[in-house]
Amino acid sequence: MRAVARAQPNIALIKYWGKRDTEQNLPAVGSISITLAELFTTMSVEFDDALPADSLVVNASENPAMLPRVSRCIDAVAGARRPRAAIASESNFPIAAGLASSASAFAALVVAADAAAGTNYGRDELAGLAGRASGSAARSLYGGFVELANDDDGIALSTLCPPSEWPLSVVVAITATGPKAVGSTEAMETSRKTSPFYARWVDQQQADLDEAREAVNSRDFQKLATVAEHNCLKMHSVMWASRPPMVYWNATTLECMDAVRQMQAEGVPVFFTIDAGPQLKAVCESAAVDEVCERLAATQGVAAVMVTGLGGGAGLIEND
Ligand code: PMV
Repeated sequence: MRAVARAQPNIALIKYWGKRDTEQNLPAVGSISITLAELFTTMSVEFDDALPADSLVVNASENPAMLPRVSRCIDAVAGARRPRAAIASESNFPIAAGLASSASAFAALVVAADAAAGTNYGRDELAGLAGRASGSAARSLYGGFVELANDDDGIALSTLCPPSEWPLSVVVAITATGPKAVGSTEAMETSRKTSPFYARWVDQQQADLDEAREAVNSRDFQKLATVAEHNCLKMHSVMWASRPPMVYWNATTLECMDAVRQMQAEGVPVFFTIDAGPQLKAVCESAAVDEVCERLAATQGVAAVMVTGLGGGAGLIEND
């Protein structure tokens, strides 16, 4: 009745922004991501008939605010008539700051809940269940380069390339710590309802997905860099043009973009991407990782850098 799972966050290179169904949390567009290796969330779920209610501890502190969402996700896996659960999670990186901690948390949660309840879902079904809690979490069930495609009644996941076949590195520049101002669900709905660019964003996504998939299949770094930066800046343009506007960047985020541009001009194989938070993620060929790290760490305002390779999907680490 107790299981522990571990999952890594993923970073979208072709982004998910907007929902086609808020009830089932289905994305309006497909996405392509890379799953990271060294950052992870460890999640333990213990069912116990004697417990009066579910409880949630996140990084050693009780977290009643997140509990309803976590309980709903466990209900979706194990059924609403399941025993109550003690849930505990630990992440080795800052949570709720645009580092996709909800992706690793919900991916690990469905794997742990499935094992603790003995429901034995397949990976695709678990991805669907994680995606209902957090759209990007579905991708963390898989490793390496992952595509999430929309199909008629849900989502379909596939691995485009395992991490060993194109072992890129990611340097995360931490430009601010602390939780973000507007959560992604609210922000996506604001964009859908108010941004004059939203419909064009949705229309153009298939072309970006096709281009990125081709770049991954041919291991063409420059091609991937061009389409990923375009897609990221387009998503942020949708947000900037929303009412109210949503600007997740700070001055240091821009300094980091400038540092990446300078490295590119010098021929360093690196590109940036930014999610719903102020951190900049620099994706680079592994040979360039020391240079990228040094340059971002020396950039004005950067609090810290974290380096990671690409890793595998969510997995079980204990099952009692
Ligand atoms: O899955 P959510 O609700 O945390 O939304 C993720 C949104 C982005 O990180 C900005 C893009 C993405 O595809 O991960």
